[in-house]
Amino acid sequence: MKQNLPSRRSFLKTSAAVAAAVSAAHLSAPKVHAAENNVLKVGLIGAGGRGRGAAVDTLSADPNTELVALCDAFPERANDAAKALQSNEALKSRIKLTPETTLHGIDAYKKVIDASDVVCLCEAPHFRHLSLRYAVEQGKHVFCEKPVAVDGATTKHVLESVRIAQEKKLNIVSGLCWRYDLNVQDMMKRVLDGAVGDILSVRETYLTGILWTRPKQEGDTEYMYQVRNWYNFAWLSGDFNTEQHIHSLDKAMWAYGDNPPKYAYGIGARMARTDQPAYGDIYDGMAVVYEYEDGRTIYSFSRQQNGCFNETDDHILGTKGKAVILSGKITGATEYTQKKVPSNMYRLEHEQLYSAIRSGGTKYINNGEYMAKSTFLAIFGRLACYTGKRLTWDEALNLETPTKPSGYTADATPPTLPDDKGRYKVEVPGKGWGYHQVVR
Ligand SMILES: NC(=O)c1ccc[n+]([C@@H]2O[C@H](COP(=O)([O-])OP(=O)(O)OC[C@H]3O[C@@H](n4cnc5c(N)ncnc54)[C@H](O)[C@@H]3O)[C@@H](O)[C@H]2O)c1
Repeated sequence: MKQNLPSRRSFLKTSAAVAAAVSAAHLSAPKVHAAENNVLKVGLIGAGGRGRGAAVDTLSADPNTELVALCDAFPERANDAAKALQSNEALKSRIKLTPETTLHGIDAYKKVIDASDVVCLCEAPHFRHLSLRYAVEQGKHVFCEKPVAVDGATTKHVLESVRIAQEKKLNIVSGLCWRYDLNVQDMMKRVLDGAVGDILSVRETYLTGILWTRPKQEGDTEYMYQVRNWYNFAWLSGDFNTEQHIHSLDKAMWAYGDNPPKYAYGIGARMARTDQPAYGDIYDGMAVVYEYEDGRTIYSFSRQQNGCFNETDDHILGTKGKAVILSGKITGATEYTQKKVPSNMYRLEHEQLYSAIRSGGTKYINNGEYMAKSTFLAIFGRLACYTGKRLTWDEALNLETPTKPSGYTADATPPTLPDDKGRYKVEVPGKGWGYHQVVR
């Protein structure tokens, strides 16, 4: 089958600012950490569930690491995480946090990065483009949770940072963790080696129940309330499909050689969680068709509604058969039922990061380009649903969207504000992004 796909280069080229950003960045070489007995200082940005987990994974992956600083938007979350980590029997001798390095605030990430050699970026997704840029400017290696952006502008900013990291040979490992899972790697290798023939379509499902909300606390400004309840605001999380379904869409991109589709259209809405303002302005169902120019497709189904059919899997249909990745099954010309091997993808990704850092450059890793592309694939689908239009990748990447707050301080104005009953406006397809017609 003819492969008529946008090239890797064309995606990077979509940002004219890339070259300028790279040359403007400080091009000083990062500190050399090759020797295994060199202690690497680790910093954690975003001390929630994943951040605490990433701190344990990263310290467990390399015995010569110390956690020297962490921060969270909120003091109690930073302090609670520090306490929890300090009581971890296996790791507490390497938790070197002090009151001065247990920090809080929206921009506390800078001090954590300044104090570290390696940083784990696990804060709310909107802020990732800022911490990533600062980290690479300061010459730090990065573990970067997904998603890495919430719109076209932040995606382009991330791509510039990825290029800066390339120039400086700074390693970036992405939290798109299925790429590091041994069983998924086995399945994807079989698919890419031709077990199902030429790929015709990929159907991705992420059909689950409703996730969390967090109530406003005394003293929270509107901005800090939204940061506390970040999952439920599109400007902070990218909406639920970007935050969660990205794991599935990333496998579709992997199957297609990380080449993005040209078009997307979709149907999305907020159907079930209409009763509580705490669900902010996000949808709860999206179905998107992504099209390549040669007719191949990605069908994407994501839902967060209780009491419905649930499934999370990857169905890859080819000219000679079908592979279902998470289920570990191939049928057709090749028949294969996978026997799962033990695989801790959360640990493996950090082991790869330190192996790359310790190699002094010979095992250099930069997952940045695919992490940005897979993030944008999810954003592309969301924009197609929000606008109700059939968009091209480039149109979506360059769309002006109301996802930027007035600033990065607790008293700044978020892009969406509640009405007098505390409810937020939700996008109505067909009106264009930002029309915000109904209150739900
Ligand atoms: N790879 C995976 O399987 C996986 C699993 C879970 C979460 N995640 C990702 O990890 C990230 C965090 O998710 P979580 O489940 O830990 O959420 P969480 O809410 O438990 O933790 C996020 C923390 O970041 C803090 N925060 C927000 N803005 C901040 C800022 N500017 N500076 C510092 N801290 C800030 C929040 O207060 C919160 O404590 C998300 O991007 C999520 O998608 C990835």
